[in-house]
Amino acid sequence: MNFELKAQDSKSKARAGVLTTAHGEIQTPIFMPVGTVASVKAVHQRELKEDIKAQIILGNTYHLYLRPGTDIINGAGGLHKFMNWDRPILTDSGGYQVYSLSNNNKITEEGVKFKSHIDGSRHFFSPEKSMEIQRNIGADIIMAFDECPPYPSTYEYAKNSMDMTHRWLQRCIDWLKENPELYGFEQSLFPIVQGSTYNDLRKESAETIASHPCDGYAIGGLSVGEPHDEMYAMSDLVCSYLPEDKPRYLMGVGTPANILENIALGVDMFDCVMPTRNGRNGMIFTSEGIINIKNKKWERDFSPLDPNGTSFVDSDYSKAYLRHLFAANEYLGRQIASLHNLRFYLWLVNEAREKIIDGTFASWKNVMVEKLQTRL
Ligand code: GUN
Repeated sequence: MNFELKAQDSKSKARAGVLTTAHGEIQTPIFMPVGTVASVKAVHQRELKEDIKAQIILGNTYHLYLRPGTDIINGAGGLHKFMNWDRPILTDSGGYQVYSLSNNNKITEEGVKFKSHIDGSRHFFSPEKSMEIQRNIGADIIMAFDECPPYPSTYEYAKNSMDMTHRWLQRCIDWLKENPELYGFEQSLFPIVQGSTYNDLRKESAETIASHPCDGYAIGGLSVGEPHDEMYAMSDLVCSYLPEDKPRYLMGVGTPANILENIALGVDMFDCVMPTRNGRNGMIFTSEGIINIKNKKWERDFSPLDPNGTSFVDSDYSKAYLRHLFAANEYLGRQIASLHNLRFYLWLVNEAREKIIDGTFASWKNVMVEKLQTRL
């Protein structure tokens, strides 16, 4: 895996780069649509590629391990073949989803015991197990097994948790050294910085994580309920300790405005369920602001869904039609909203990239952040 910086903004810390993987190039900054169970909800792979222009998607170890199971994914020849997606894939390591979704989870130094949210069956994840499962799923980028402390956490909890995440990272690295490639292509491990909202812990974690030579580095434990300013302060601080020449991935963030603010702080990669999950609930993100398409206000608005939109659904369908589909609880409404929102997120990060390259990012970002937060 190779990362090349193409441009850096002079008025902010924003960067434009190219990340080269075994399944193709990723132009950064990039947004990665979430395909938790080998499906970006309500969107075909063909639409992801041709309409949304997604360059990389995300899968989840926790979900794929429980269903369909690594045996079936391995039998298909890996996740790319199983789901017919030949561009890059990143898998999250399982820990974060275990804490948020499973029942009765118990965290110890050895790993995490949990009960499946699907059938209540008992399972155990450890750093080694997460690496083994992610090897078998076969993503291009695999994430270290970490603990994401809740917000707020006491200093003591955050420190103990961070220290354990660092020890777990070493176990991930050791397992990967002893267990080389499975599918004949490189799978790169990204370690994760933790430390809650404590400056000294974030610094210590970023320095510890950065001391391991890796192809990229992630920032975890943010967007878990802390105020936005605290999130920005933490990602700013962490970015200042991460290597300049490697991509930085902020996990689980966020709104369009959050993404632009974090690009300005030096973050290169993002993922979030917001465009699809909120889309399925009728929230439409546009370059002029946010629409709740269920509002009566749109009942007789026959204008295009998004006049500035760059996907076919933006010009093919009106606001009134989409509102009707939501009122009638039609599947097509959720499909249109998901496709539009994902295309909007991919358009936004590509615009940011172009502005970084032509030197106008900082002023453009300030105007956009205002607009993006407007409720239409
Ligand atoms: N997704 C969002 N935040 C996190 C985090 O802190 N850790 C992991 N593994 N995944 C995340």
